Amino acid sequence: MVEIFNISDFSKVVFGQYHFYNYKFFRKNFGDNCYNIPVTEFPHYKFLEEYQQKGEVSSTNSYVEYLSYAFSKPTGLPNTPEGIGLKQKEFIEFFKKVKKNPDLLLTTRLHNHAAGYYRKDGKISLVHGNHRIAIACFLGLPVRLKVVSKDEFKNVLQRYFDNRLSKNPNFFSGLQQPYQSVFDGEEEIAEGRRPDILERFKKINLKDIKNKRVIELGCNIGSSLCLALEQGAKYALGLEISRDMIDVGLKLNTYFAKNIDFEKVDLNDDIKLDQKFDTVFCLSVAGYVRDWKKLSNLILNTDLKVMYFEGHINKKVVDYVELFKHFSKIEFLGFNKDQRKTDTYTRPFFRCIK
Ligand SMILES: C[S@@+](CC[C@H](N)C(=O)[O-])C[C@H]1O[C@@H](n2cnc3c(N)ncnc32)[C@H](O)[C@@H]1O
Repeated sequence: MVEIFNISDFSKVVFGQYHFYNYKFFRKNFGDNCYNIPVTEFPHYKFLEEYQQKGEVSSTNSYVEYLSYAFSKPTGLPNTPEGIGLKQKEFIEFFKKVKKNPDLLLTTRLHNHAAGYYRKDGKISLVHGNHRIAIACFLGLPVRLKVVSKDEFKNVLQRYFDNRLSKNPNFFSGLQQPYQSVFDGEEEIAEGRRPDILERFKKINLKDIKNKRVIELGCNIGSSLCLALEQGAKYALGLEISRDMIDVGLKLNTYFAKNIDFEKVDLNDDIKLDQKFDTVFCLSVAGYVRDWKKLSNLILNTDLKVMYFEGHINKKVVDYVELFKHFSKIEFLGFNKDQRKTDTYTRPFFRCIK
């Protein structure tokens, strides 16, 4: 269901238009609160406050900083003082127009509506129209808003997954269908190539999750980390090489709103982590790392207590001895499923205790 209405109480609205380029602005400035930014904290709103007070905007305004992150995206206006200046100018022009004619915020042209999703926690995650919502909230005016219900979000998500697959069935090129399925509780709400994400997660001892800091190497869209946060993990960081998959993970979070953090890294590089973790997920990713020493160093530097390790199809303990030799005990948890199209279980799954 999609609801369209005029809104003038913005207390339930939070920022939701995260993408790979602007996300770090919010993580840097809001930390663990970065998925709960009310309209009055939007950089767009801060811009209006400063503009109203001083009649101009300083280069240290958070909107300017926000734009410099958002504009590092290769498309759109360039990430230069000129590009950013132009955007500021456009915003001020729009603000002045709305002041003169508030009905502009009540447009019936659908593509001009602000838009959002109802999140799992009932808040509205705004994914389109940050500027107009900031203006409306600042001036105390109503604005037209289109909101997608929880059920419809699931349809949107599945269409998005399917669309990726039909456009590009080749795993190794361009847009991929996400590897992981997405679960909301027990329900698979979007079908990836790997349907047993929840089944695999259920083999994990929740003692290793509750109140723990969890890191996943090659986290894909973050489905497993989302499940860990759902089960009480304190913090979750996903390392992933694919910008595209991180982008999907951030979009997913417009619904789940979990405190999940992503870093784009190549596990074949020397990675320095400035944080410690209790639990490491190293799941179906070891085969992508060329150097066991590098992988072991990264894992050991997390200061972990336990690692969950999923091997690739038909591999055995001996294939992973270069990594397992750093652990005091290896528990075999059974085999996990290969992929959606087969019903075979050949991926060995281990709990490795430091
Ligand atoms: C087979 S999937 C496994 C995903 C997840 N760990 C799981 O088991 O559900 C491998 C993931 O690792 C990522 N990946 C591959 N090579 C990588 C690298 N060199 N550095 C970081 N991530 C990588 C891929 O983009 C993909 O998301």
